Amino acid sequence: MSTVLVTGGAGFIGSHTCVELLASGHVVVVVDNLVNSSARAIAAVEAVSGRGVTFVHGDVADRSTLDGLFARHGFGAVIHFAALKAIGESVAEPLRYYGNNLGSVVTLLEAMQDAGCRNLVFSSSATVYGNPTNAPIDETVRLEAVNPYGRTKLMGEEIMRDLCAADQRWKIVLLRYFNPVGAHPSGELGEDPRGIPNNLMPYLMQVAVGRREKLPVFGGDYPTRDGTAIRDYIHVVDLAQGHVAALGVLDELASGCHAFNLGTGTGSTVLELVRAAEEVIGRPVPFEIVERRAGDAVAVWADPTRANTALRWRATRDLRDMCRDHWAWQSTHPYGFGDAPEGS
Ligand code: NAD
Ligand code: UFG
Repeated sequence: MSTVLVTGGAGFIGSHTCVELLASGHVVVVVDNLVNSSARAIAAVEAVSGRGVTFVHGDVADRSTLDGLFARHGFGAVIHFAALKAIGESVAEPLRYYGNNLGSVVTLLEAMQDAGCRNLVFSSSATVYGNPTNAPIDETVRLEAVNPYGRTKLMGEEIMRDLCAADQRWKIVLLRYFNPVGAHPSGELGEDPRGIPNNLMPYLMQVAVGRREKLPVFGGDYPTRDGTAIRDYIHVVDLAQGHVAALGVLDELASGCHAFNLGTGTGSTVLELVRAAEEVIGRPVPFEIVERRAGDAVAVWADPTRANTALRWRATRDLRDMCRDHWAWQSTHPYGFGDAPEGS
């Protein structure tokens, strides 16, 4: 139990992690510039937890903001979620992605070093495996990145590996998430993408709630059991608990960088996810099979054995749980934390 600095704590995964941190007795301080989130997420974290969070509206790439935080609090560890994450946007605006995602990594590490706090949990991604061909994917698979966003995650990891090689006092846990979906079971907290969703589950749920006409299913001719691509969907609460587990074993870990896959170990096709969603929603979700999306891998799922063992953590929620909880959020908050547009 310690005071934890959570960067990007107003975002989708960060807010769910704050709930789990509070439930396990940690004191939580969030810094977020709200570039892709709402302060209402922090209020929701407090409402479902019955506990308070210290929230600072600020940029992690701003050294003075971080220095102010480290001067006021004695952090036992930092969890660094803050980043931009839209692949297409990263291709169109690479400098914004490198500036934000890597600027915040370097500034945060410098501030931590100067404050003498050298325990970090970093939001990495299965994107560091590029487009792998042989699932399940374990942590020894060769690392590569295939777009600027992915490169910010891979370079972030590399910066941390270099730092750990230079200074044995650092302990850094790299958590490589597979496909986070779902929402808090209260229905009060969930994913709230801005604009047209890039990802499958939020798009599907916006169709189900009537905000969009039909789900485009990208590719129906993949060499899989039903022709659609396979991913390892993981409930965001399982993922959040993985962060608490990582903090819990930090003392036991040797110094240095440690990478862990956070996934369920089970792959589902796009159509399996659609069917699971239809079951919990109770009616069909309109979809249409369209062209494959450029750059998509065929089948990706995790080998989470290392996390199961070393973090004493395992994902317990299945596809139905993910759909049920996501629907509980989307159906009661069709416009997320925002207000419905006028005339809708
Ligand atoms: P999100 O956009 O909901 O949350 C990120 C948060 O960081 C947002 O609240 C945003 O406002 C904030 N932020 C961004 N740049 C900032 C900055 N410079 N200073 C302060 N705050 C800043 O995204 P998420 O899905 O919760 O993702 C969290 C982390 O997990 C990210 O690092 C992301 O790259 C990583 N990740 C996400 C997924 C996924 O599918 N959601 C998969 C793998 C890895
Ligand atoms: N898909 C559709 N229709 C949609 C959206 C997605 O059919 O409207 C399909 C995709 O083609 C893919 C699957 O649903 O087969 C999952 O797609 P997502 O966009 O939800 O997730 P990805 O696996 O493509 O991407 C995720 C994260 C990225 C990360 C990547 C690799 O969103 O941040 O995993 O780890 F880089």
